[in-house]
Amino acid sequence: MSQSSPSKFRGRTILVTGASGGIGAATVRRLVADGADVIASGRNEAALAALQEETGARPLPFDLTSEDSIREALSGLELYGVVNCGGFGGEIATPQDTDIDIFDKVISINARGSLLVIKYAAPAMIAAGAGAIVNVSSQASLAALPGHISYGSSKAALDNITRVAALELGKHGIRVNSVNPTVVMTEMSAFYWGRPEIEGPFLSQMPLGRWATEAEIAAPIAFLLSDDASMITGVSLPVDGGYTSR
Ligand SMILES: NC(=O)c1ccc[n+]([C@@H]2O[C@H](COP(=O)([O-])OP(=O)(O)OC[C@H]3O[C@@H](n4cnc5c(N)ncnc54)[C@H](OP(=O)(O)O)[C@@H]3O)[C@@H](O)[C@H]2O)c1
Repeated sequence: MSQSSPSKFRGRTILVTGASGGIGAATVRRLVADGADVIASGRNEAALAALQEETGARPLPFDLTSEDSIREALSGLELYGVVNCGGFGGEIATPQDTDIDIFDKVISINARGSLLVIKYAAPAMIAAGAGAIVNVSSQASLAALPGHISYGSSKAALDNITRVAALELGKHGIRVNSVNPTVVMTEMSAFYWGRPEIEGPFLSQMPLGRWATEAEIAAPIAFLLSDDASMITGVSLPVDGGYTSR
């Protein structure tokens, strides 16, 4: 994996949602190591305080289901970058067994919440004339996965938000991309993907044949935020050990 470079994001402020969770916290650590001024968001204030103690990232709690909460939190913030990492896994269910309230909640956090963050972050980024946004999507938007009707739909919506936002914001010097990870064994995924009858057959279909680490998701997020990706916008980048290339 690429080494961190303390001057990569010097002078740049980056907001990371989902920072109280596994991939988000790893992203905060990576961006801080790369010299960014990081604002860490989530709802769990104790987790954000612990992350601040560890990394110096400034906590900014808000609820992704509340437009008022997002508007108030982002008001007056001058950002170079945004990582939309906050997310909810919902349930494992067939279309016929779907709990539609869970579908609504998954869409509300993963797609609507990410769009609202872009809505309230973009004006200051447009005024600055530069910036980068990375949405943390999933392999579940690129391939049909059993049981993932709600979650996959929410991440497919997020990938479309990526493409349309890239189209609209490109003229302001703002790039927008997705990363689409395979499974990382966080609390969110272990209850399903940790079962031997699910894990074995899935990994046997994946060229690299193993789950990703949190740091292996944080690294391509940092790349897409950086000037190394200055000609890349509107993509959904699989970070999936080759699973969706088959
Ligand atoms: N783990 C995987 O295998 C995997 C694979 C592909 C993609 N992803 C995606 O990667 C992202 C991070 O996942 P993770 O595995 O790190 O999950 P995680 O550890 O469960 O973290 C989820 C994060 O989302 C935040 N969140 C949830 N609901 C929220 C709400 N209403 N308002 C504000 N924040 C909210 C949580 O904050 P609080 O707890 O503080 O509310 C937490 O920081 C998600 O978007 C997920 O869909 C995960």
